[in-house]
Amino acid sequence: MNIEWHVPVRVIFGRGRLAELGQVCAPLGKRALVVTGKGSMRRLGFLDEALESLRASGLDAEAFEGTPPNPTTDFVDEGALVARHGERDLIVGLGGGSALDAAKGIAVCARNEGGVWNYVKSSDKDPRPIQHPPLPLVSVPSTSGTGSETTPYAVITNPETHEKPALISPQLFFRASIIDPELPSRMPERLTAATGIDTFAHAFENFTSTNEHPVAHALDVAAMEAVAQFLARAVEYGDEEARDRMAWASARGGASLALSGGQMVHGMEHPVSGHFDVAHGEGLAALLPACIRHFGKGCPEKAARVARILGEEPAKGAEDDPAEACARGVEALLEKVGLRLTLKDIGVERSAIARLAEDAMRTMGRTVRRAPVETGRDDLVRIYEESFA
Ligand code: NZQ
Ligand code: MN
Repeated sequence: MNIEWHVPVRVIFGRGRLAELGQVCAPLGKRALVVTGKGSMRRLGFLDEALESLRASGLDAEAFEGTPPNPTTDFVDEGALVARHGERDLIVGLGGGSALDAAKGIAVCARNEGGVWNYVKSSDKDPRPIQHPPLPLVSVPSTSGTGSETTPYAVITNPETHEKPALISPQLFFRASIIDPELPSRMPERLTAATGIDTFAHAFENFTSTNEHPVAHALDVAAMEAVAQFLARAVEYGDEEARDRMAWASARGGASLALSGGQMVHGMEHPVSGHFDVAHGEGLAALLPACIRHFGKGCPEKAARVARILGEEPAKGAEDDPAEACARGVEALLEKVGLRLTLKDIGVERSAIARLAEDAMRTMGRTVRRAPVETGRDDLVRIYEESFA
């Protein structure tokens, strides 16, 4: 046995615990920059609550607002300048995965020379090593899906090339993540569904990956069960228990992603949201069924297990392919949460398929290759085609 297990995030979970932000941050710094999105956190009062909590614990705190969905290199570089000019010594990410990832990029660039793109692995170069430790990072997620609160990744889009790879370093783990389900409880239906599917995809892809990890395995099963049981309820009724369970599933999916790294559905989605600016979870929803039909034959027992978790019993006898049962289960889940979408539905253009496949192989090739069947560029082209139907 040869195992590494390193997910060093202090996770603080519970309703109302945003109020503890100041206490959690006080030992880590004196001058906090709170990185957030375009307006939801301000509108819902959570930004003020965060700033007040920090100030009540004696910190100087300022907000840096405006993170776009699928955060860009320019936004991160601008944030790093703001952090330097304000002599910030602590970065807090408050918002969806985009704000959390921008916070991670800003923490790196506030302490290291050059723009964030230097530190990302892109098509034509390896990443520059991060020489100086990033500023300490704390997160307060407001969506339940990306798992950024427990991963060492920041997904950043280059607005010129539309490449969307990840900045990856163990130095990007948050020192602490305060998961207060009051925040994601305010998500509208469609965002709840899309981010919930993101959590499902993390757990499902890691579970079926060739890079399967024994600790991740347990997290994956628990997260998939939570999605099967609670996502539709979280979307439809917005009830507290269901929203709590999804927030917790997101953190587990993230911890699993930190260990296993996902596989081809994510590898194929990043170019989609990089080029067309779609919501990450909706891109995953459009790609999941065709991906499962492609790689499910490489993991029939696991596909059957996932099918059962989703309430889809593979028919008796040899003729029912477990991959097919699994795909049906996922389609039923997507239907239930209103995300039975094609790539066309979310604004992707067919003429871009060749480019998407190339980008997936170039910028996310390692992730694609963790699929349980051998997968090359031509397979990706076919799967993108199928995801238009
Ligand atoms: O910008 P604001 O006004 O805050 O509005 C946001 C945004 O418009 C809104 N929102 C967030 N929380 C809300 C809310 N609205 C109402 N109530 C709330 N509680 O939702 C919109 C989308 O936000 P965004 O942060 O973009 O969504 P999500 O959390 O899905 O994050 C997606 C990003 O995370 C990356 C994705 O690629 C994408 O860039 N990922 C990051 C990962 C990681 N760091 O480990 C792994 C994931 O696989 C994923 O790739
Ligand atoms: Mn994801």
